[in-house]
Amino acid sequence: MTLAQHGQGLRAVVLGASGAIGSAFVRLLRADARFVEVVALSRSSDPALTLESEDTIASCAQHAGQGGAIHWVIDATGALEIDGHGPEKRLGALSATTLLRAFEVNAVGPALIMKHFIPLLATDEPTVFATLSARVGSIEDNHKGGWYGYRAAKAARNMLLQSAAIEAYRRLPQAVFAALQPGTVRSSLSRAFVAPDDALAPEDSVAQLYAVLHALRPTGRAQFVDYRGANIPW
Ligand SMILES: NC(=O)c1ccc[n+]([C@@H]2O[C@H](COP(=O)([O-])OP(=O)(O)OC[C@H]3O[C@@H](n4cnc5c(N)ncnc54)[C@H](OP(=O)(O)O)[C@@H]3O)[C@@H](O)[C@H]2O)c1
Repeated sequence: MTLAQHGQGLRAVVLGASGAIGSAFVRLLRADARFVEVVALSRSSDPALTLESEDTIASCAQHAGQGGAIHWVIDATGALEIDGHGPEKRLGALSATTLLRAFEVNAVGPALIMKHFIPLLATDEPTVFATLSARVGSIEDNHKGGWYGYRAAKAARNMLLQSAAIEAYRRLPQAVFAALQPGTVRSSLSRAFVAPDDALAPEDSVAQLYAVLHALRPTGRAQFVDYRGANIPW
């Protein structure tokens, strides 16, 4: 059975549900009659999810797992500007503090989400674990430089997902693990860097990502794909 053939009674979790992409995923999943429950988690949900606190991630996982096994997990958390610091343009702008914060929010927190939410996936049905990456996290595709912390943390998030996918394969042979590039999407994250008219509406990006995820097959590896369904080199 593939994801597209999946029947009723599905359960989903969206992390970063307060964001542009996360909230669009929540709306889309709730509009899909196959889903009986869509748990929306964020810093403002109850329980609250804070990427800097494993305890909150564990509590959220316990809350989400109460209703039974999960079929879809979408981690739409992430930040480009952190504590008032935007992406670095030059090596001279790097600081240990801002680099560590970029990793904490964009890689370490998402890794702890993998740790606590992958064990909740249903073992004998098709499932999805998707994490919002970014094309700028591709080492191969980096032709412009800059954005050191965000780029490096997204590359780390991709690597963490790849290891998690390989580890999970034996227990979850029907699981798809995806690192997603949503396109340039209108959101508070992208506002300072792109004109609204040049960015996708979150609903459009997410509708395309949803179709792309349905078309993916489990491979025992993570897959780095964009909203058009094209593979991105790691
Ligand atoms: N927009 C784009 O063009 C674009 C392009 C490529 C990749 N992406 C990726 O897509 C994902 C979603 O981005 P978006 O555009 O939807 O941005 P967004 O609207 O700013 O949403 C970001 C989400 O992450 C949450 N978050 C940030 N820091 C957090 C923390 N320390 N603890 C808990 N939650 C935290 C935010 O929560 P609060 O609401 O509480 O702040 C929000 O739910 C990110 O991973 C981003 O890197 C976006």
